[in-house]
Amino acid sequence: MTKTRIILGMLITAYCSYVIAGQDMALKAAYKDYFYIGASFGKPVMQEDQQTTLRLIARQFNAITAGNEMKWGPFNPEPDVYHHGPADDFVSFGTDHGMYIVGHVLFWHSQTPEWVFQSADGKMLGRDALLGRMRQRVRHVAQRYQGKIHAWDVVNESIMDDGKLRDSEWTRIIGDDFIEQAFRIAAEELPEDVELIYNDYSMTGKRKRDAVVAMIRAFKQKGVRIDGVGMQGHWSINGPSVAEIEESIVAFASTGVAVHITELDVDVLPRSPQMWSGNADVKLELQQDPKLDPYAKGLPDAMQAKLAERYAGIFGIFIAHQDKIKRVTFWGPTDKYSWLNNWPIKGRTNYPLLFDREGEPKPAYHAVMQRVQ
Ligand code: XIL
Repeated sequence: MTKTRIILGMLITAYCSYVIAGQDMALKAAYKDYFYIGASFGKPVMQEDQQTTLRLIARQFNAITAGNEMKWGPFNPEPDVYHHGPADDFVSFGTDHGMYIVGHVLFWHSQTPEWVFQSADGKMLGRDALLGRMRQRVRHVAQRYQGKIHAWDVVNESIMDDGKLRDSEWTRIIGDDFIEQAFRIAAEELPEDVELIYNDYSMTGKRKRDAVVAMIRAFKQKGVRIDGVGMQGHWSINGPSVAEIEESIVAFASTGVAVHITELDVDVLPRSPQMWSGNADVKLELQQDPKLDPYAKGLPDAMQAKLAERYAGIFGIFIAHQDKIKRVTFWGPTDKYSWLNNWPIKGRTNYPLLFDREGEPKPAYHAVMQRVQ
């Protein structure tokens, strides 16, 4: 009897430590006292036969962003034509797993259909009509995903690296107050507890940082609601420095908004034989060249180690500023699904995330886990 009890006790203890260790193995558990840990995904992941990547996401992450499925083009390609399916499936997955769900993105210069800016006879739309269409889009998603989406990227990439407003159909039709109008509409149409985010790349650059800080302060003065700033975090193995990253986190947080790291990945490939520009403009398209795809057969150990070290440095800064950071989201669940395999050069083999092509944790994953233990 006593022997059986002892053995039973040992078994229970072993099981408990297995469960605890198992939970510690997950990013979301390790970082639960700091910030949400997210991943983006979309149709390709949801269409996998065995759904192994969805299981990985459910285990490791507690925040999700749709890679493409909620952008104006894929979601609403023609007037009154809606492709709700993939967006609905994405939201259901997040709801089923109790995740923090991010809507990406209401207004962007890219992946927005031409019809949005045109009247029925093909002429350029006027300001009020375009503002009306924007309102309609927000009202539509507000209604469809009521109580399910926790934050929206309201405007994406509308300030240039030099701090000036991006010239786009949005600004040409609406004018210099396009971003402000977008936030006003979002605040009016979405429930109060949905966080409104301005999202952009190169947010560590001084001129863009200063312009975004000034914009947030101006909005706050005028009573235009903005709750978060998204630093995309499309970074490289070499830059930006952790000091630059830190400076921006501190600067954005000083305006009173939450900082979200929204699209983190670390590019390990060279962009041109000479340099990496640090910019993540989707319009950039460079020529294929085998010299710019040096790890097609696998990432050498030295580079794996370098990537792990880089991630450790980046997460060290995030942890130091966890009081300012609400969420850290990776742009993709595994290397297989990274957009960096096709941007800015098509068909390369990149290694920017924490999980390899098979969904196995890389040294970078262990480095990020060790940071917090
Ligand atoms: C990317 C997607 O990952 C790709 O699949 C698509 O072809 C282009 O857009 N900044 C953003 C994201 O805000 O929406 C972009 O996503 C990557 C850059």
